[in-house]
Order: sequence, then C-alpha cells, then structure tokens
Amino acid sequence: MEHSFGSGQESHLPAKLSAYGKKILLTYGGGSIKKTGLYDKLMDLLKDFEIFELGGIAPNPKIESVNTGAAICKKEGIDVILAVGGGSTIDCSKAIAAAAYYDGDAWDLLLDMSKITKALPIAVVLTIAATGSEMDSVAVISNMRTNEKLPLYSPLILPKVSVLNPENTYTVPPFQTAAGSADIMSHVIENYFDREQAFVPDALNEGLLRAVIKYTPIALKQPSSYEARAQLMWASTLALNGLGSTGKTFAWSCHYIEHELSAFYDITHGAGLAVLTPKWMRHILSEDTVDKFCDYAVNVWGLERGNDKFTLANQGIDATEAFFKSIGLPSTLAEFGIDNTHFELMAKNAVKIGGLRNAYVPLSEKDVVTILQMSL
Ligand code: NZQ
Ligand code: ZN
Repeated sequence: MEHSFGSGQESHLPAKLSAYGKKILLTYGGGSIKKTGLYDKLMDLLKDFEIFELGGIAPNPKIESVNTGAAICKKEGIDVILAVGGGSTIDCSKAIAAAAYYDGDAWDLLLDMSKITKALPIAVVLTIAATGSEMDSVAVISNMRTNEKLPLYSPLILPKVSVLNPENTYTVPPFQTAAGSADIMSHVIENYFDREQAFVPDALNEGLLRAVIKYTPIALKQPSSYEARAQLMWASTLALNGLGSTGKTFAWSCHYIEHELSAFYDITHGAGLAVLTPKWMRHILSEDTVDKFCDYAVNVWGLERGNDKFTLANQGIDATEAFFKSIGLPSTLAEFGIDNTHFELMAKNAVKIGGLRNAYVPLSEKDVVTILQMSL
C-alpha cells in the first residue's frame, strides 16, 4: 500500500489510480466534500477517468449503502473505489469492495467473513483524523433493522492508496474534531492496557496520546493550523495500523460497548468512547492494574510519582475525564438521551461480539452493565 502525506498530495492520484483501471466508484458522505471544494478539485484531477458516484453515506454507515454500492460496481464493471471522507465513507467502501464479488445480501459477509473471497482495490482521500481506517483492514457496518453494528476484517480490504493531506481536515467541525481525537485516544488506550507488556509499542502509544492531548485544543482554537491538523492526522493513522499493538493480545474493551450504543442509538462513535473510557478505567482499577495506571498517569499526563499508587492512578483517570470535557465532549449517556432500557441486551452483545471475557481485565455481562450504569 502507498501513503502520501502532506499538502497537495492529491495530485498523485491520477497516476496511482490508473494502475487499477479507468472506471472509478467515487464514494462520499453527506456532502461536506462538495461544500469544501474537494469534490470539484478531484473531479478536475480525474477528468480522464470514467466516474460513477455513491454519495450520502451516513455516519455509522448502513448496510443499505453497501448493497447499493456493490450493485453499481457489478453493473458498471468498476475497477477501483475512491473513498473521499472519514471512517464511515471508507468503511462503507471497504465493505462494497468485498460485496462487489459476492452474490447476495452484503450483510452475509458481516455475519460470516469466510465468504469474502476477493475485493476491489480501494483508494482513500482522508478528510477527518479519527478512525485509522485509512491504514487498516477493518470496516464497521450497521444494520439498524436488527440493531447490530459489526466489524468486518480482511486483509483484502486494506486500502491500496491513501492521500493524507491535513488541509482537507481544516473544515471538520469542532464536535467532530474532538470526537475524532477521543477515538484516536481510545484506540491507543485499548492497545496500551493489554495483558502483554511491550515497551517499544507502549512508548509509541504514550507519545501518540501526548500528541493528541497537545494538538486537539490547538486544532479547536485554530482549525486551519497545519501543524495541529497534521499531528492529529498522523496520530490517527499510526494509532491503528498495528504498530501500537505489536506483541500484544489485541483484546479490546470499550470499543465493543460503544458499538452497541451506536447500534441502538446511532451516536457519534468517538463521543460515546469519551463517556465510556473513564468509567471503564475506574471499574478495572485494582491491585493488579494499578501499576499500569500509574505509568499512564506519569508518562501521558505528566503527573508526579510519590503519591499513593491509587491516588496517582485516579488522578490519571480524572485527567482523562477532564480532558474529554474540556474539548466539548459529553461525559454522560444522559447527554445523548440514552437510558438503561437496552443495557442487558447491549452487554450480552458486547461480551459476545467483542470477546470481552479475554480483555485486559475480563469483562462479564454484569461488568458491562455496571460500566453502562456508571455512564448514565
Ligand atoms: O458526511 P459528511 O458530509 O462528509 O460529514 C462528515 C460527518 O458528518 C463530517 N466530516 C468529515 N470530514 C469533514 C467533515 N465535515 C467537514 N469537513 C470535513 N473535512 O464528519 C462527520 C463524521 O464523519 P465520519 O466519517 O462518520 O467520522 P469518523 O471518521 O469518525 O468515522 C466513524 C465511523 O468509523 C467507525 C465508527 O464506528 C464509525 O462508524 N470506525 C472504524 C474503524 C476502522 N475502520 O478501523 C475503527 C473505529 O474504531 C471505528 O469503529
Ligand atoms: Zn474507534
């Protein structure tokens, strides 16, 4: 795969895309790329290609968009998919790429990934620093009819080309900028709090967290700060491309609980994580985990050792919670209008889908309900 980072890197797209063919399916979200001028810029650059379009891909992309996109690919004989947007557009495009070679409802692939045999090549122009989808082999797709949000994993859906131009994120609204940062931090935290200790990946993880903590407030104050947007974009990409989880079990906790919130209430992924993460931290803090929390407090938040271990660990968690609040993210589920109606079912699903019994601190359905109750 090829990554181009920096201003003006879109100019390499024609050469890179022509390696795959002439027929492009251009995918995008609710229209931000038209407002920002990126759409016109790309249409101009790609005037020698035959372009088909799938717009209107919603945040938390839905299976209906995947089926629509796959039908276009089959009918038109698409050679390559160009996803212009954030995690939602990229994930939808990844699922389309696989569904283009599948006869039947694309949801079958989410339920049984062994049905993925082939995928169209995917190129990406990233417009928001958040998910890391630009450099990973995962797509997360929602089915609102069944209240399911499921991950699709396949090396076949790793983007072949990604254009990472920080200028394309200048227009990301404050709430989405903050939610994107919370998502990056959560990816790193999920990797950091792992049963396996791994010094080099964790040094990287601590550095990525410090970068997001430093640069998010700057990006919020100065949306067109190239420096801030560049650091966040690079952190987004490095957080989930496998470097930070090297030597680790890759058994996550909060993400699967958040995916249940999105599956039932269609909320912004990063904002849900900002609510859950500090509560999960408090729930798992114990004699077994306190030393790791102290490392986190000192190396990420710059707190002083010398305090009682549990005091220091709690100060690190307080700092996490205060940071999310300071960048304008919610700290309770009530702020989304979510009550405890579906907690039991969400807990059951999260434990099953996420394999939470194998997490850093194994989580039962009862633990997940407790974390959700703490989040109310
Ligand atoms: O839809 P448009 O109009 O483009 O507006 C989007 C959308 O409303 C807007 N936006 C994006 N770039 C913009 C912009 N607005 C103005 N200027 C720009 N430059 O931001 C909103 C959110 O976009 P979205 O793509 O939904 O954001 P994000 O990148 O946070 O993606 C979230 C999705 O990715 C999944 C999440 O669960 C969620 O469905 N994830 C994917 C992962 C992966 N593939 O590895 C891992 C993550 O943990 C996550 O689960
Ligand atoms: Zn995430």
